[in-house]
Amino acid sequence: MAVGKSVVRVDARSKATGKAVYVADMFMPGMLIGKVLRSEFPRGKIVRLDVKKARSIHGVHAVLTADDIPGKNVCHVVFEDMPLLATGEVRYVGEPIALIAAETEAAAQLAIEAVELDIEPLGILIDPEKYNSPDSPILFGEDNIFAHHKIRRGDIENAFAQSDTIIERVYRTTYQEHAYLETQGMLAVPTAEGGIDVYGTMQCPFYVHGAVSDVTGLAQSRVRIVQTTTGGAFGGKEDVPSLVAGWASVLALAAKRPVKLILGRTEDFVSMSKRHPSRVEVKLGATKDGKLTAAGIDILFDGGAYATLSPVVLWRGTVHSCGPYRIPAVRVDARAVATNKVPCGAYRGFGSPQTLFAIESAIDELAEKIGMDPVRIREINHLRRGDETVTGQKLGESVGLQECLERAITESDYYNLREKLHGRNGPVKRGVGISTIFYGVGLGAGGTHFARSGAYVGIQPDGSVQFAVGTTEMGQGMRTVLGQIVAEAFGIPFERVYCLPVDSSRVPDSGPTVASRATTMSGRAILVACSTLKGNLAGVIAPEWGVSPKAITFGENCAFRTDNPAKRISWNDLVERAFAQKVVLTIVGYDSSPPTSWDEDSGQGDAYVIYAWAVNVAQVAVDTRTGVVRVEKLWAAHDVGKAINPTLVEGQIEGGSVQGLGYALTEEYIIDKNGIPMNPRLSFYHIPTTVDAPEIHPIIVESAYSEGPFGAKGFGEQPLMGIAPAVANAVFDAAGIRLREQPFLPERVWPKLKKGAR
Ligand code: MOS
Repeated sequence: MAVGKSVVRVDARSKATGKAVYVADMFMPGMLIGKVLRSEFPRGKIVRLDVKKARSIHGVHAVLTADDIPGKNVCHVVFEDMPLLATGEVRYVGEPIALIAAETEAAAQLAIEAVELDIEPLGILIDPEKYNSPDSPILFGEDNIFAHHKIRRGDIENAFAQSDTIIERVYRTTYQEHAYLETQGMLAVPTAEGGIDVYGTMQCPFYVHGAVSDVTGLAQSRVRIVQTTTGGAFGGKEDVPSLVAGWASVLALAAKRPVKLILGRTEDFVSMSKRHPSRVEVKLGATKDGKLTAAGIDILFDGGAYATLSPVVLWRGTVHSCGPYRIPAVRVDARAVATNKVPCGAYRGFGSPQTLFAIESAIDELAEKIGMDPVRIREINHLRRGDETVTGQKLGESVGLQECLERAITESDYYNLREKLHGRNGPVKRGVGISTIFYGVGLGAGGTHFARSGAYVGIQPDGSVQFAVGTTEMGQGMRTVLGQIVAEAFGIPFERVYCLPVDSSRVPDSGPTVASRATTMSGRAILVACSTLKGNLAGVIAPEWGVSPKAITFGENCAFRTDNPAKRISWNDLVERAFAQKVVLTIVGYDSSPPTSWDEDSGQGDAYVIYAWAVNVAQVAVDTRTGVVRVEKLWAAHDVGKAINPTLVEGQIEGGSVQGLGYALTEEYIIDKNGIPMNPRLSFYHIPTTVDAPEIHPIIVESAYSEGPFGAKGFGEQPLMGIAPAVANAVFDAAGIRLREQPFLPERVWPKLKKGAR
């Protein structure tokens, strides 16, 4: 009735008309403006920090340093290494040192300038590849390594020795900035009874909840977090909103007034998380007929100044590092290391775009060396139902990769297209490239602690239904999709269902809104709640019909006897009778994810509950006179289990593809060798616009996941991940040059064209 239909998003109209309220739009009586004083040094010792003068400025109500934090000076993510405000030492440009709350922007700015701050520069570590060189400073632990993950499978030495062909290549990727339209921001309001309410833009309200309690010293019961309309996130509002909320909260408590703290674009750019730069070394072995025999992979991620999410981002990158292939012998070593740069964190794909760029490029390079077609080598090696992943996980169901491949090849007319494009003459060379990828849905074995989901569902007296979850809408369409799941479960029209706003005092913790998990995991919790409520409703009518409640089905706006559908009662009448009988019609359903497993030493286990799959085919044009690469057409086939809302699936494919295109072609954030950001603004960091977007052909494949709601599995991050390698492979097909470092800017492409570099 509701699932599988492209209903219009519930939030479309309010966002398109400008009625939606973002945190920057909010005002409170007596509200002050919050500001942050930040380090201009990549590393240094704070030798003097005097805020007396700043405090005396007219209109300034609070100036706080680390010493003034009432609770713990920490922003807990995976470890507790990052402070809310720097103390003793600063470790990156943009690190927060002091906080101001003032009546006006101008007074706050004057106070910032009046803080007396002396920093004595210390030795810096900027290049992650020098993390272990003797003249580099130690920034973390004993060896600068935040995390080291491994995969050990089979006899790798022997497998390489037996291989007919071996290639060894190094691939590099740089930062990617989320460039969400709405910058980070929070409004903290002290309550009359000594608690605090915090409103703001975020992905994970219960992370913020814990963080605010930590830094204010208030009991969690007195902290309330309300998510405001969130203008994009893409992973960039997973962990860092905890910092912003922490700053606003300690300021509000000190000033005893509401404090609104909204980051400016450049401030946000410099100080908030990014995708990790990486270096990935790939060694692949194969038989002469193209069967993969061995993979040796060495991964290095630049984590930045504090660990934040690096250990888990790296873990996902590790699990995905061998691509969606059967490989009998594997050795992976992955390290995330400390540098004196902005802490890197979550960004759509969470560590896998880096490793997938490497493996998907390497597979093409291997195919070329063997003299095999890039599609053929994938067909021979890619994972199918019943196969084992490189972590030893047996794939029992929902493996739609072959279907994605067939559909992408057919719909792009891959072979004919290639021939046609190669037949053209002129300075602009055209070609086609492919990538095959996969993505573990949910937190997996790397985050079982957070893998819980709750969902509140309340049937109203008029038969309409409210529901609420602790996962959030950030533009991806979650409220709509989950509403469709509720409607389908009850067999009522989608329009009768409404998703309530996220307020930590009123919604259950559904775990973080990350890892493409909301549809699957919150959807499962919703179905638990709906199933109990349907049982309660059925109990009202079952005795009259002389059947057990289990023998009653819901659908078509009714409840009916499963064995005799003519025997029925309308949904509204049944709800009315249930209310009269005081039957429980509001409930919170809980669900924990299906089990996963992991062995740290061998890197073997059932890493994720299920995988989504995708194939991208890109058609590119390379201008040999200038080195400009344009992506002209893109076919993107994604196995999503079940498209709850096909239009929203296509929207995710289109949006993610364009984000992937920016990663491939134009987005380059530069921090120079002294640790200074060079281009932290959107006029010098080029994200694609609609003019740059190619013709995109989304292809939906549905290989059902039996544990997912109506067969659905999450895939929101996946559309970004396979674009860069598909484009690199297409550039090789077009112009015979191999790009092993993104972004593929003209200044990187042109010299290779001149040399004919492979
Ligand atoms: Mo997401 S990149 O798992 O916040």
